[in-house]
Amino acid sequence: MGTRIEGLGVYLPSEVLTNFDLEKMVDTSDEWITQRTGIKERRIARSESVVDMATAAAEEAIRNAGVNKEEIELVVLATLSPELGFPATACLVQERLGLPPSAMAFDVSAACSGFLYALDVADAYLKSGKKKLALIIGAEKLSSIVDWSDRSTCVLFGDGAGAAVVRFDENSESDVLASKLYAKGSEWRALYRENCGYLKMEGRKVFKEAVNGMAQASLEALREAGLRPEDVDLVVPHQANLRIIKAVAERLGIPMEKVFVNVDRYGNTSAASIPIALYEALKEGKLRRGMTVLLTAMGGGLTWGAMVLRY
Ligand code: ACO
Repeated sequence: MGTRIEGLGVYLPSEVLTNFDLEKMVDTSDEWITQRTGIKERRIARSESVVDMATAAAEEAIRNAGVNKEEIELVVLATLSPELGFPATACLVQERLGLPPSAMAFDVSAACSGFLYALDVADAYLKSGKKKLALIIGAEKLSSIVDWSDRSTCVLFGDGAGAAVVRFDENSESDVLASKLYAKGSEWRALYRENCGYLKMEGRKVFKEAVNGMAQASLEALREAGLRPEDVDLVVPHQANLRIIKAVAERLGIPMEKVFVNVDRYGNTSAASIPIALYEALKEGKLRRGMTVLLTAMGGGLTWGAMVLRY
Protein backbone atom coordinates (compact mmCIF):
# COMPACT_ATOMS: atom_id res chain seq x y z
CA MET A 1 0.00 0.00 0.00
CA GLY A 2 1.44 3.37 -0.93
CA THR A 3 1.72 6.48 -3.07
CA ARG A 4 2.40 5.55 -6.65
CA ILE A 5 3.43 7.66 -9.65
CA GLU A 6 0.90 6.43 -12.23
CA GLY A 7 2.01 8.52 -15.19
CA LEU A 8 4.54 11.14 -16.22
CA GLY A 9 4.43 13.83 -18.90
CA VAL A 10 6.66 16.61 -20.20
CA TYR A 11 6.66 19.60 -22.44
CA LEU A 12 9.90 20.94 -23.86
CA PRO A 13 9.85 23.91 -26.24
CA SER A 14 11.29 23.09 -29.66
CA GLU A 15 13.62 26.10 -29.82
CA VAL A 16 17.18 25.16 -28.82
CA LEU A 17 19.65 27.79 -27.59
CA THR A 18 23.21 26.43 -27.70
CA ASN A 19 26.32 27.66 -25.93
CA PHE A 20 27.52 28.85 -29.34
CA ASP A 21 24.38 30.97 -29.67
CA LEU A 22 25.15 32.47 -26.23
CA GLU A 23 28.70 33.32 -27.35
CA LYS A 24 27.07 35.80 -29.73
CA MET A 25 24.96 37.35 -26.95
CA VAL A 26 27.36 37.75 -23.99
CA ASP A 27 31.10 37.48 -23.25
CA THR A 28 31.20 33.71 -22.70
CA SER A 29 32.35 30.53 -24.42
CA ASP A 30 31.13 27.01 -24.98
CA GLU A 31 34.29 25.85 -23.20
CA TRP A 32 33.59 27.91 -20.03
CA ILE A 33 29.95 26.87 -19.82
CA THR A 34 30.71 23.20 -20.48
CA GLN A 35 33.57 23.02 -17.96
CA ARG A 36 31.79 24.94 -15.18
CA THR A 37 28.27 23.54 -15.61
CA GLY A 38 28.09 20.61 -18.05
CA ILE A 39 25.39 22.47 -20.00
CA LYS A 40 25.58 22.41 -23.82
CA GLU A 41 22.13 23.70 -24.74
CA ARG A 42 18.75 24.66 -23.27
CA ARG A 43 15.18 25.09 -24.54
CA ILE A 44 13.54 28.50 -24.88
CA ALA A 45 9.78 29.08 -24.93
CA ARG A 46 9.19 31.84 -27.48
CA SER A 47 5.47 31.48 -28.06
CA GLU A 48 4.50 29.18 -25.18
CA SER A 49 3.42 30.51 -21.78
CA VAL A 50 4.13 28.68 -18.54
CA VAL A 51 0.44 27.65 -18.53
CA ASP A 52 0.77 26.23 -22.07
CA MET A 53 3.77 24.14 -21.04
CA ALA A 54 2.27 22.99 -17.73
CA THR A 55 -1.02 22.03 -19.42
CA ALA A 56 0.72 20.04 -22.16
CA ALA A 57 2.87 18.14 -19.63
CA ALA A 58 -0.20 17.46 -17.47
CA GLU A 59 -2.24 16.21 -20.46
CA GLU A 60 0.49 13.69 -21.26
CA ALA A 61 0.83 12.57 -17.63
CA ILE A 62 -2.95 12.05 -17.42
CA ARG A 63 -2.90 10.05 -20.69
CA ASN A 64 0.03 7.93 -19.53
CA ALA A 65 -1.63 7.28 -16.17
CA GLY A 66 -4.82 6.16 -17.94
CA VAL A 67 -7.06 8.09 -15.55
CA ASN A 68 -10.09 10.29 -16.14
CA LYS A 69 -9.61 13.97 -15.50
CA GLU A 70 -12.72 13.96 -13.28
CA GLU A 71 -10.88 11.70 -10.81
CA ILE A 72 -8.21 14.33 -10.05
CA GLU A 73 -8.86 15.90 -6.64
CA LEU A 74 -5.71 17.90 -6.10
CA VAL A 75 -3.44 20.00 -8.36
CA VAL A 76 -0.16 21.23 -6.92
CA LEU A 77 2.01 23.27 -9.27
CA ALA A 78 5.58 24.26 -8.45
CA THR A 79 7.04 27.31 -10.18
CA LEU A 80 9.16 30.38 -9.61
CA SER A 81 7.99 31.92 -12.89
CA PRO A 82 4.19 32.01 -12.43
CA GLU A 83 1.89 33.29 -15.16
CA LEU A 84 0.35 36.03 -12.99
CA GLY A 85 0.94 37.67 -9.61
CA PHE A 86 -2.20 35.79 -8.63
CA PRO A 87 -4.20 33.60 -8.92
CA ALA A 88 -2.07 30.50 -8.76
CA THR A 89 -0.83 29.11 -12.07
CA ALA A 90 -2.37 25.83 -10.85
CA CYS A 91 -5.83 27.44 -11.18
CA LEU A 92 -5.12 28.55 -14.76
CA VAL A 93 -3.99 25.01 -15.61
CA GLN A 94 -7.03 23.57 -13.84
CA GLU A 95 -9.23 25.69 -16.11
CA ARG A 96 -7.34 24.66 -19.26
CA LEU A 97 -7.55 20.98 -18.34
CA GLY A 98 -11.28 21.32 -17.69
CA LEU A 99 -11.03 19.85 -14.19
CA PRO A 100 -14.04 20.02 -11.86
CA PRO A 101 -14.10 22.42 -8.87
CA SER A 102 -13.51 19.41 -6.60
CA ALA A 103 -9.91 19.46 -7.88
CA MET A 104 -8.41 21.82 -5.33
CA ALA A 105 -5.52 23.74 -6.93
CA PHE A 106 -2.63 25.81 -5.62
CA ASP A 107 1.02 26.67 -6.29
CA VAL A 108 4.08 26.01 -4.21
CA SER A 109 6.99 28.43 -4.37
CA ALA A 110 10.14 26.57 -3.45
CA ALA A 111 12.27 27.32 -6.55
CA CYS A 112 14.33 24.32 -7.67
CA SER A 113 13.08 22.21 -4.74
CA GLY A 114 9.50 22.93 -5.82
CA PHE A 115 8.73 19.54 -7.33
CA LEU A 116 9.89 17.77 -4.16
CA TYR A 117 7.78 20.08 -2.01
CA ALA A 118 4.77 19.46 -4.30
CA LEU A 119 5.24 15.69 -4.26
CA ASP A 120 5.57 15.73 -0.48
CA VAL A 121 2.34 17.75 -0.10
CA ALA A 122 0.51 15.38 -2.46
CA ASP A 123 1.88 12.33 -0.62
CA ALA A 124 0.66 13.74 2.71
CA TYR A 125 -2.84 14.46 1.32
CA LEU A 126 -3.03 11.00 -0.21
CA LYS A 127 -1.78 9.20 2.90
CA SER A 128 -4.18 11.17 5.12
CA GLY A 129 -7.06 9.80 3.04
CA LYS A 130 -8.34 13.31 2.19
CA LYS A 131 -7.57 12.85 -1.53
CA LYS A 132 -7.09 9.83 -3.76
CA LEU A 133 -5.58 11.17 -6.99
CA ALA A 134 -3.27 14.15 -7.39
CA LEU A 135 -1.67 15.96 -10.31
CA ILE A 136 1.67 17.55 -9.57
CA ILE A 137 3.44 19.82 -12.01
CA GLY A 138 6.76 21.63 -12.20
CA ALA A 139 6.71 24.33 -14.90
CA GLU A 140 9.08 27.19 -15.64
CA LYS A 141 9.55 29.94 -18.16
CA LEU A 142 12.87 31.09 -16.73
CA SER A 143 13.83 32.79 -20.00
CA SER A 144 11.30 35.50 -19.05
CA ILE A 145 13.00 36.35 -15.74
CA VAL A 146 16.66 35.93 -16.70
CA ASP A 147 18.79 39.00 -17.49
CA TRP A 148 20.07 38.13 -20.97
CA SER A 149 22.98 40.56 -20.56
CA ASP A 150 24.26 38.87 -17.35
CA ARG A 151 26.61 36.06 -18.34
CA SER A 152 26.83 34.74 -14.78
CA THR A 153 23.16 33.65 -14.81
CA CYS A 154 21.79 33.60 -18.38
CA VAL A 155 23.90 30.61 -19.44
CA LEU A 156 22.43 28.41 -16.68
CA PHE A 157 18.68 28.32 -17.18
CA GLY A 158 16.09 26.87 -19.56
CA ASP A 159 12.33 26.47 -20.01
CA GLY A 160 10.09 23.41 -19.75
CA ALA A 161 7.51 21.51 -17.73
CA GLY A 162 7.06 18.08 -16.23
CA ALA A 163 4.06 16.50 -14.53
CA ALA A 164 3.11 13.40 -12.58
CA VAL A 165 -0.23 11.81 -11.72
CA VAL A 166 0.05 10.32 -8.25
CA ARG A 167 -2.40 7.90 -6.66
CA PHE A 168 -2.78 6.25 -3.27
CA ASP A 169 -3.11 2.57 -4.02
CA GLU A 170 -4.06 -0.06 -1.42
CA ASN A 171 -2.34 -2.79 -3.43
CA SER A 172 0.73 -0.91 -4.55
CA GLU A 173 4.31 -1.90 -3.88
CA SER A 174 5.29 1.63 -4.91
CA ASP A 175 5.56 4.33 -2.26
CA VAL A 176 7.25 7.45 -1.02
CA LEU A 177 9.45 5.78 1.60
CA ALA A 178 10.93 8.92 3.14
CA SER A 179 11.18 12.65 2.63
CA LYS A 180 13.38 15.25 4.29
CA LEU A 181 12.69 18.82 3.21
CA TYR A 182 14.29 21.96 4.59
CA ALA A 183 14.27 25.74 4.28
CA LYS A 184 16.77 28.35 5.49
CA GLY A 185 15.14 31.75 5.05
CA SER A 186 18.16 33.48 6.54
CA GLU A 187 19.99 32.76 3.24
CA TRP A 188 17.27 33.92 0.82
CA ARG A 189 19.54 36.68 -0.52
CA ALA A 190 21.74 34.04 -2.21
CA LEU A 191 19.08 33.50 -4.87
CA TYR A 192 16.02 35.67 -5.47
CA ARG A 193 14.01 37.84 -7.81
CA GLU A 194 12.51 41.19 -6.90
CA ASN A 195 8.97 41.82 -8.18
CA CYS A 196 9.13 42.13 -11.98
CA GLY A 197 12.95 42.13 -11.82
CA TYR A 198 15.58 39.62 -12.89
CA LEU A 199 16.80 36.51 -11.14
CA LYS A 200 19.87 37.26 -8.99
CA MET A 201 22.26 34.66 -7.65
CA GLU A 202 25.45 34.32 -5.63
CA GLY A 203 26.69 31.37 -7.66
CA ARG A 204 29.54 30.19 -5.44
CA LYS A 205 27.47 30.32 -2.27
CA VAL A 206 24.58 28.41 -3.86
CA PHE A 207 27.05 25.85 -5.20
CA LYS A 208 28.42 25.08 -1.72
CA GLU A 209 24.99 25.06 -0.10
CA ALA A 210 23.72 22.74 -2.85
CA VAL A 211 26.46 20.14 -2.44
CA ASN A 212 26.25 20.13 1.37
CA GLY A 213 22.45 20.30 1.55
CA MET A 214 21.65 17.72 -1.11
CA ALA A 215 24.19 15.22 0.24
CA GLN A 216 23.08 15.61 3.85
CA ALA A 217 19.35 15.50 3.07
CA SER A 218 19.91 12.39 0.93
CA LEU A 219 21.68 10.58 3.76
CA GLU A 220 18.95 11.58 6.22
CA ALA A 221 16.16 10.47 3.88
CA LEU A 222 17.91 7.15 3.29
CA ARG A 223 18.35 6.67 7.03
CA GLU A 224 14.64 7.39 7.59
CA ALA A 225 13.81 4.77 4.95
CA GLY A 226 16.12 2.25 6.67
CA LEU A 227 18.36 2.16 3.59
CA ARG A 228 22.00 2.84 2.71
CA PRO A 229 23.41 4.61 -0.35
CA GLU A 230 24.34 1.22 -1.87
CA ASP A 231 20.63 0.25 -1.82
CA VAL A 232 19.78 3.06 -4.26
CA ASP A 233 19.13 1.90 -7.84
CA LEU A 234 18.79 5.35 -9.40
CA VAL A 235 19.45 8.93 -8.31
CA VAL A 236 17.42 11.62 -10.05
CA PRO A 237 18.92 14.91 -8.86
CA HIS A 238 17.86 18.45 -9.68
CA GLN A 239 19.73 19.32 -12.87
CA ALA A 240 21.51 22.59 -12.04
CA ASN A 241 25.14 21.85 -12.69
CA LEU A 242 27.03 18.64 -13.52
CA ARG A 243 29.72 19.56 -10.99
CA ILE A 244 27.15 19.78 -8.20
CA ILE A 245 25.62 16.45 -9.26
CA LYS A 246 29.04 14.72 -9.33
CA ALA A 247 30.06 16.18 -5.97
CA VAL A 248 26.81 14.99 -4.34
CA ALA A 249 27.20 11.49 -5.85
CA GLU A 250 30.78 11.34 -4.60
CA ARG A 251 29.76 12.35 -1.06
CA LEU A 252 27.09 9.62 -1.09
CA GLY A 253 29.51 7.06 -2.53
CA ILE A 254 27.07 6.36 -5.38
CA PRO A 255 28.68 5.77 -8.80
CA MET A 256 27.67 8.15 -11.62
CA GLU A 257 26.28 5.17 -13.60
CA LYS A 258 23.38 5.22 -11.14
CA VAL A 259 22.81 8.97 -11.51
CA PHE A 260 20.50 10.35 -14.21
CA VAL A 261 21.86 13.42 -16.01
CA ASN A 262 20.27 15.54 -18.74
CA VAL A 263 21.51 18.99 -17.67
CA ASP A 264 23.63 19.03 -20.86
CA ARG A 265 20.45 19.31 -22.98
CA TYR A 266 18.11 21.46 -20.89
CA GLY A 267 20.18 23.44 -18.38
CA ASN A 268 18.50 24.29 -15.09
CA THR A 269 14.72 24.21 -15.50
CA SER A 270 14.19 24.68 -11.75
CA ALA A 271 10.94 23.04 -10.56
CA ALA A 272 10.55 21.26 -13.91
CA SER A 273 13.93 19.58 -13.80
CA ILE A 274 13.18 16.51 -11.66
CA PRO A 275 9.92 15.49 -13.43
CA ILE A 276 11.57 15.98 -16.85
CA ALA A 277 14.49 13.81 -15.69
CA LEU A 278 12.14 11.13 -14.28
CA TYR A 279 10.24 11.07 -17.59
CA GLU A 280 13.41 10.66 -19.64
CA ALA A 281 14.83 8.04 -17.27
CA LEU A 282 11.61 6.05 -17.71
CA LYS A 283 11.70 6.40 -21.51
CA GLU A 284 15.34 5.29 -21.60
CA GLY A 285 14.56 2.21 -19.48
CA LYS A 286 16.72 3.48 -16.59
CA LEU A 287 13.68 3.87 -14.29
CA ARG A 288 11.69 0.70 -13.71
CA ARG A 289 8.98 -0.48 -11.32
CA GLY A 290 10.31 -1.73 -8.00
CA MET A 291 13.46 0.40 -8.13
CA THR A 292 14.64 2.40 -5.12
CA VAL A 293 14.96 5.96 -6.36
CA LEU A 294 16.57 8.94 -4.61
CA LEU A 295 15.40 12.44 -5.58
CA THR A 296 17.28 15.49 -4.30
CA ALA A 297 17.25 19.23 -4.98
CA MET A 298 18.39 22.65 -3.76
CA GLY A 299 17.00 26.03 -4.74
CA GLY A 300 16.00 29.55 -3.80
CA GLY A 301 14.67 30.06 -0.30
CA LEU A 302 17.05 28.53 0.35
CA THR A 303 15.10 25.30 0.15
CA TRP A 304 16.44 21.80 -0.27
CA GLY A 305 15.69 18.20 0.44
CA ALA A 306 15.60 14.58 -0.63
CA MET A 307 12.97 11.90 -1.09
CA VAL A 308 13.28 8.13 -1.38
CA LEU A 309 10.73 6.36 -3.57
CA ARG A 310 10.02 2.78 -4.40
CA TYR A 311 9.00 3.45 -7.99
N1 ACO B 1 31.29 32.93 -19.17
C1 ACO B 1 32.57 33.23 -18.91
N2 ACO B 1 33.00 33.65 -17.72
C2 ACO B 1 32.09 33.73 -16.73
C3 ACO B 1 30.72 33.42 -16.92
C4 ACO B 1 30.35 33.02 -18.21
N3 ACO B 1 29.09 32.68 -18.50
N4 ACO B 1 30.08 33.60 -15.76
C5 ACO B 1 30.99 34.01 -14.86
N5 ACO B 1 32.20 34.09 -15.45
C6 ACO B 1 33.47 34.48 -14.84
C7 ACO B 1 33.30 35.33 -13.62
O1 ACO B 1 33.15 36.69 -13.96
C8 ACO B 1 34.59 35.06 -12.87
O2 ACO B 1 35.59 35.85 -13.45
P1 ACO B 1 36.75 36.51 -12.52
O3 ACO B 1 37.46 35.35 -11.91
O4 ACO B 1 37.54 37.30 -13.50
O5 ACO B 1 36.00 37.32 -11.51
C9 ACO B 1 34.92 33.61 -13.22
O6 ACO B 1 34.14 33.30 -14.38
C10 ACO B 1 34.56 32.62 -12.11
O7 ACO B 1 33.22 32.90 -11.66
P2 ACO B 1 32.56 32.05 -10.51
O8 ACO B 1 31.20 32.58 -10.25
O9 ACO B 1 33.49 31.95 -9.35
O10 ACO B 1 32.49 30.63 -11.22
P3 ACO B 1 32.04 29.25 -10.63
O11 ACO B 1 33.07 28.23 -10.89
O12 ACO B 1 31.52 29.38 -9.22
O13 ACO B 1 30.81 28.87 -11.56
C11 ACO B 1 28.40 28.88 -11.51
C12 ACO B 1 29.68 29.71 -11.61
C13 ACO B 1 28.35 27.97 -12.72
C14 ACO B 1 27.22 29.82 -11.50
C15 ACO B 1 28.43 28.02 -10.23
O14 ACO B 1 28.79 28.82 -9.12
C16 ACO B 1 27.11 27.36 -9.95
O15 ACO B 1 26.68 26.48 -10.64
N6 ACO B 1 26.45 27.75 -8.85
C17 ACO B 1 25.22 27.13 -8.44
C18 ACO B 1 24.05 27.55 -9.24
C19 ACO B 1 22.87 26.67 -8.87
O16 ACO B 1 23.01 25.51 -8.63
N7 ACO B 1 21.73 27.17 -8.76
C20 ACO B 1 20.68 26.22 -8.33
C21 ACO B 1 19.62 26.81 -7.80
S1 ACO B 1 18.89 27.79 -9.02
C22 ACO B 1 17.29 28.10 -8.48
O17 ACO B 1 16.84 27.76 -7.42
C23 ACO B 1 16.53 28.93 -9.43
